[in-house]
Formats: sequence, structure tokens, C-alpha cells
Amino acid sequence: MSIFAKIVGTGGYLPPRVVSNDELAAELAQRGIETSDQWIVERTGIRQRHLAAEGVKTSTLATQAAQQALEDAGVSAQDLDLIIVATSTPDYVFPSTACLVQAQLGNVGAAAFDVQAVCSGFVYALSTADAMVRAGRAKKALVIGAEVFSSILDWSDRATCVLFGDGAGAVVLSAESEPGILAAQLNADGSQMGILCAKGNVSHGQVVGDPFLRMDGQAVFKLAVTSLAASAHQVCEQAGVQLSDIDWMVPHQANVRILNFLSRKLGVASEKVVITLDQHANTSAASVPLALNVARRDGRIKAGDLTLLQGVGGGFTWGSILVRS
Ligand code: ACO
Repeated sequence: MSIFAKIVGTGGYLPPRVVSNDELAAELAQRGIETSDQWIVERTGIRQRHLAAEGVKTSTLATQAAQQALEDAGVSAQDLDLIIVATSTPDYVFPSTACLVQAQLGNVGAAAFDVQAVCSGFVYALSTADAMVRAGRAKKALVIGAEVFSSILDWSDRATCVLFGDGAGAVVLSAESEPGILAAQLNADGSQMGILCAKGNVSHGQVVGDPFLRMDGQAVFKLAVTSLAASAHQVCEQAGVQLSDIDWMVPHQANVRILNFLSRKLGVASEKVVITLDQHANTSAASVPLALNVARRDGRIKAGDLTLLQGVGGGFTWGSILVRS
């Protein structure tokens, strides 16, 4: 009998401090940096972001989202045998954020590790967990995307600092006899690493290189649209479904113009595209599970629906997953 990985619970957590575009513009103006709500909304669709308080770590946000997903699934933390956290803003060099979450949840014994694929991280992590469940290596898996992305932003660079927010989203996977996750498609092109990167590290007790996020926005825009469109076709072909069969698209929440281009290119009605970036901004690895959680909880995604999850980001990385609810 085949085994499939089914999403049986979702959760999300956003830090309580909400910063509107106007508030951010006023804060930046004090440092002599000019931006406006109008520029941010017109170019990106973002209206506000949640920002973690000083000292709040990724594992704290991740654990809150995980607890909500476990409760939704009716699964106890002790029953998990796999925990994967997708993040580019881990608490420490090591141990992994997944191990910190494991300890905060009170689980002992599950395999726990982090996945680093920037804004594609959750899709990479979910695909990894799906493969492990289908191979019989895990029965109950927790997959989290979590970031304190504000910690790697250069607040003097208006072209990037207005785009991002902090948060966490989580899903619980269970081994079941029915799908579940139907297909997954992951890709990367490391030769494009320079268009979106944070090229710093810690060495001999010092930060070496540039620890802040840098981006060539127009290059990212073009590559995001073409790679996500190709990936959507490939994952549908793999699953033997048509794009017209898709009930919901939950893409990475970077920029509403990318999502409009993408839905037009794919011929998917814009009403089927879940958009949370206006409220959350770009939360990198957290963006897809946060949006999925919103659409599940507000009743849009129902049992039996076919949902396309898509991630894209630094690396350059991208990927798609088709899920039957
Ligand atoms: N406020 C006001 N003006 C600004 C701001 C700002 N926050 N940021 C840039 N500008 C100015 C620039 O200085 C420039 O001014 P100039 O013409 O006098 O030189 C002008 O706006 C246009 O700048 P561009 O970079 O050409 O603006 P563009 O229309 O490309 O929009 C953006 C920038 C929104 C980043 C766009 O390129 C984009 O959406 N790229 C996609 C990348 C993305 O969304 N990345 C998110 C992370 S990556 C990911 O998650 C996959």
C-alpha cells in the first residue's frame, strides 16, 4: 500500500508590533531616508509588516506557529518523529533552530534539522518531509518556515528595507493512505547567487563580509516570474493535472506585481491567488505557510481542494508543490 504525506494542521504567528508604511516612512525620514506609502504600495502592494521586538529570536516565532499547527492537527509534540525548520535567520550558527524548537515543544527523539533555501525554504523543507514520510522514515512531521528577517536588513537601504517582515508558519504532516502531497518540483541556479544575497559570516569571533541583504530587484523580478511559471507547468505535468484543475495558488509573498504577472502568464484567475503580502510583507521562508494558514482558517481552502504552493528566492532557488487537502 502506498503512503502519502497529508497536511493535517496549520499554524501561524506574527509578532505583535505592526508597522504601517506611513510609520516606517516617518522612522526612515528621521535618518534622512525618503520613502512613502504611495511608492511602497504602487511598486509592491505591501501596506504593513510585523516586526519582532529586539532580542526575539526565530525559534520563538517558530514554536508559537508550531503549537498552533499541532493543536489544529490534534497531534501531541511527543508524537512527532521529524521537525524541519526553513530559515535564513537562525538563532545561532548551531544548534539548528529545529533543535531549539524541539526543546521548546518538549519533544525528545525526533529528527530535527534546518533547511536553508531563503524564500524557497518552506517549499524545500516540505518536499523533504514529504519524501521522508513516503519512504516510511517519518509518520508525523512538523515543517516550519520562520524568520526574523528584520535582523539582516540594512535600514539605510530604502530599496530593500521596506519589503520585508518577520513571522512564522507551520504545518503538520501525517502518513496516510490517501494523498496529500501529489508532486514536488525543486530547482536552483547557483550562478545567480549575486542577485539576492547576504554575504557575511562569523569567523574568528568577527562578522566577516557584508551581513545585510542585498538585491538586484529587477533581476529578481524577471527570474521569479519565469522560473515560477516553468515550475508550475512541470509540477502539474508530474502530477498529471492541468493548471485549470488548481483551486488555489499560494505563492511566495514578495511583490503583488510578480503575482499578477504570474497568474496572467499561467492563465490562473487572480481570485484563486492567495495574497497576504499587503498585511505581512515578505517574510521569506515564513510567507508560504503563513498564507496557507490564513486561507485554510478563513475557509477558502476546503477538503478536496487542489492547492499549488510556490517558493522563490535567494540562491537562486525556486520550487512548487501540489497539495490535495
Ligand atoms: N521609496 C521610494 N523610492 C524608492 C524606494 C523606496 N522604498 N526604493 C527605491 N526607490 C527609487 C529608486 O532609488 C529609483 O529612483 P531613481 O529612478 O531616482 O534612481 C526608483 O525608485 C526606481 O527604482 P527601481 O529599483 O528601478 O524600482 P522598481 O520599479 O524596480 O521597484 C522593486 C523596486 C519593488 C524592488 C522591484 O524591482 C521588485 O519588485 N523586484 C522584485 C524583487 C522582490 O520583490 N524582492 C523581494 C525579495 S526577493 C524574493 O523574495 C524572491
